[in-house]
Amino acid sequence: MDKIIITGGKRLSGTIPISGAKNSALTLLPCALLTDEPLTLRNLPRLADIDGFQHLLNQFGVSTTIAGNRPGDFGRVMTLEAPRITSSVAPYELVRKMRASILVLGPMLARMGEATVSLPGGCAIGNRPIDLHLKVLEALGAEIEMAAGYVRARAPDGGLPGGRYSFPVVSVGATENALMAAVLASGKSTLHNAAREPEIVDLCKLLVAMGAQIEGIGTSDITIHGVPRLHGATYRVMSDRIEAGSYACAAAITGGEITLQHAVIEEMEATVQALRDAGVTVEPVKEGIHVAADGPLRAVNLSTAPYPGFATDMQAQLMALLCRAEGTSVLNETIFENRYMHVPELGRMGANIETSGRTAIVQGVAQLTGAEVMATDLRASMSLVIAGLAAEGETQVHRLYHLDRGYERLEEKLALVGAQVERVGGD
Ligand code: UD1
Repeated sequence: MDKIIITGGKRLSGTIPISGAKNSALTLLPCALLTDEPLTLRNLPRLADIDGFQHLLNQFGVSTTIAGNRPGDFGRVMTLEAPRITSSVAPYELVRKMRASILVLGPMLARMGEATVSLPGGCAIGNRPIDLHLKVLEALGAEIEMAAGYVRARAPDGGLPGGRYSFPVVSVGATENALMAAVLASGKSTLHNAAREPEIVDLCKLLVAMGAQIEGIGTSDITIHGVPRLHGATYRVMSDRIEAGSYACAAAITGGEITLQHAVIEEMEATVQALRDAGVTVEPVKEGIHVAADGPLRAVNLSTAPYPGFATDMQAQLMALLCRAEGTSVLNETIFENRYMHVPELGRMGANIETSGRTAIVQGVAQLTGAEVMATDLRASMSLVIAGLAAEGETQVHRLYHLDRGYERLEEKLALVGAQVERVGGD
């Protein structure tokens, strides 16, 4: 297994191109199941999770062709075509590796009138149930059965009628599944307390480009008027606001100054506010967002929350930054119950953090020191990279496959702004 070796203490400066958003791409890809015409997605990040999802779609009979694959390029273009779906089963071997596989349930049900998907199983960042995915699909008219670790969803009479559902808690994934199921229903559907994340807006925009009729895009009340068929489209995946926020933290912890090319400030206001509260200057510029940290970092108190609140996907990276801030920060993780696995690893680098349930208290320290660390999820791994960039000496981050799931060519991008990072094989 590869690892990354970081020699800390280099001030980051320059421009980092921000890739297409992983979390958006993973919900745009299954839209290929909704039409028999080609769907072309531009600005897809090159990530292990995208490859995994492509493989899952291939299993259903979706053909995929990739362009723009020159070695130096970031991103690529994928054309997906599903004139005929050859299977409606998402097997355990594929689903267990990638939780996002559950997102085939809605579109398969819409197109085929049935879908059988393995239960995703446990996840490193908490229990992550799928009950809301199933409840909303039932509200849209699906019949759901569970057997032998699989969910079987069927639309009676071959098609969903549509319906009304009010989410008891905001769920990004369940909102996405519901949208993809409702667009081909025979009637109208309304979703209340729906997720408003920019990735949901991206999904709605693609569905509209394919001929769907959706009202209330970007709000928590969404109405979908089902249409008999959707057509193909060409669509550019939005920029990755979490990747952008991560590199902003990386620059800030080194007292650096970078431009996040293609980043969109309106899509990451809570992160921008947190960085400003921490004493970092963040401004929109023509190419994207400019981040500069020239003074001392300050402590920040915040809770994660659904959009437009502070994203749970940014909690670990901001925590790494706050390890070097003056004073005591208090973070509260409200979305997932087990999302502090980076804390003991940051502690090995000299951070002073105490957790109690969902609260983490970060006492800023004057210096972090390099160490060998490993983490068990994607954003936790990035927090260790961020800490390593500011630490004295060498940090080795093991289990790089987590980072490869969500950060396109991390070490190359960091090297572009002057970080000393090296990827080495064997662990
Ligand atoms: C969540 C994050 C998303 C992030 C992603 C990956 C939120 C609201 N969602 O999306 O920003 O990109 O993780 O880290 O911040 N839940 C249920 N039953 C369900 C589905 C969810 O109880 O069927 C609960 C979850 O346990 C969680 C909350 O609802 O507490 C939000 O989960 P959800 O938005 O569905 O998770 P993801 O779609 O994975």
